[in-house]
Amino acid sequence: MSTKPPVLVDTYPQYPFEITRGEGVYVFDDSGNRYLDMYGGHAVCSLGHCNSRIAEAISRQAEKLFFYSNLTKLSIRDEAAETLVRFADSHLSSLFFCNSGAEANENALKLAVQLTGRSRLVSLKGGWHGRTTMAAAVTDDPKWHAKTPGWTGDVLFLAPNDSQDLQKIDEQCAAVIVEPLQSIGGVYEITNDYLLQLRERTKKSGTLLIFDEVQTGVGRTGAPYVNGHGQAGTNKEVCADMSTSAKSLANGFPIGALLLSPEIASEIQLGDLGSTFGGGPLAMAALQETLTIIQESNLQEHVRDIEMYLRESISQIPLVTEVRGHGCLLGLKLSIEAKQVVGKLRDFNILAGTSGVADVMRLLPPYIIEKEHIDELVTALTKIGEELL
Ligand SMILES: Cc1ncc(COP(=O)(O)O)c(C=O)c1O
Repeated sequence: MSTKPPVLVDTYPQYPFEITRGEGVYVFDDSGNRYLDMYGGHAVCSLGHCNSRIAEAISRQAEKLFFYSNLTKLSIRDEAAETLVRFADSHLSSLFFCNSGAEANENALKLAVQLTGRSRLVSLKGGWHGRTTMAAAVTDDPKWHAKTPGWTGDVLFLAPNDSQDLQKIDEQCAAVIVEPLQSIGGVYEITNDYLLQLRERTKKSGTLLIFDEVQTGVGRTGAPYVNGHGQAGTNKEVCADMSTSAKSLANGFPIGALLLSPEIASEIQLGDLGSTFGGGPLAMAALQETLTIIQESNLQEHVRDIEMYLRESISQIPLVTEVRGHGCLLGLKLSIEAKQVVGKLRDFNILAGTSGVADVMRLLPPYIIEKEHIDELVTALTKIGEELL
């Protein structure tokens, strides 16, 4: 006899405790233990847990108008759109609100197919873009593709940072979707030079370029977005036709956004895009407050300082062989399996993440993290190294 499945189906391996409360960079479990959240609630809580200003902004809006869909103009939606476009500081001057990263990517890919009339999608090996049909099709995971054929068009996966492979992009390709810093793919940076060449090539073939900035956006790497600013430290801007955002955008309130060039925005007809909940007033209030605080508190500069401090502090630890990434999206390449180290870190009351690459662990902390928290991590990693190496 088969056992009865749980009411809530098991879809994620979970922590061996329940998180019941959060405060700043910390979360607390059901036994009152405190954990330093170097995983930021899954790359989401940019301003830490239970930020009081965001909670108040949501609460104020909830008392005024809890919800109405896109059938009505909402001033708060218009203002939030303006705020995000100003924050992003690029040529992408229009946007569409939705509810998640996958939804933003799905809409971007769908628009690309619709506007170009082509059905070949291009992605990079190691890319991760979400679980909806087209987003899953451009995600480099053969296990998924074996389970569901999903998108019936062609998908081409290019070798990242390989200029030669760019020749495969031709007039049949609707779009290329790229995470400028592949997060799940082991915090692997797509170089600025490659992104510039990719831009050239896509312009030549009339292929739309989409930056998936679900993880790299909202100031996480030290710039508002890679789009329009270039990879950290290069000052050579690359301009995509669309960029997608979610995760940190409203500090944990569900939201997604698809930023669009004026050329693309002007092609969109009534009914082309839609969502019941997208652009809902509570998400808009959370977004407005999140972006305002990031700018007021100079947090983009702060995350760059934190990265530098972590790089210096961690350089002496034998367990860590390389530090990858920027700002608060960092990968530590380890001399042993990341899964083992992430498990051990929990014994030191620190939460961190693994990645799709066995020996790379990920740190995606809230931007408000301080040097003393990095010290805590370094001490724990040193002790873990002494025990395991
Ligand atoms: C780069 C990237 N794109 C898209 C997604 C999908 O976002 P969501 O889980 O909000 O649908 C993720 C989620 O981890 C991601 O890391």
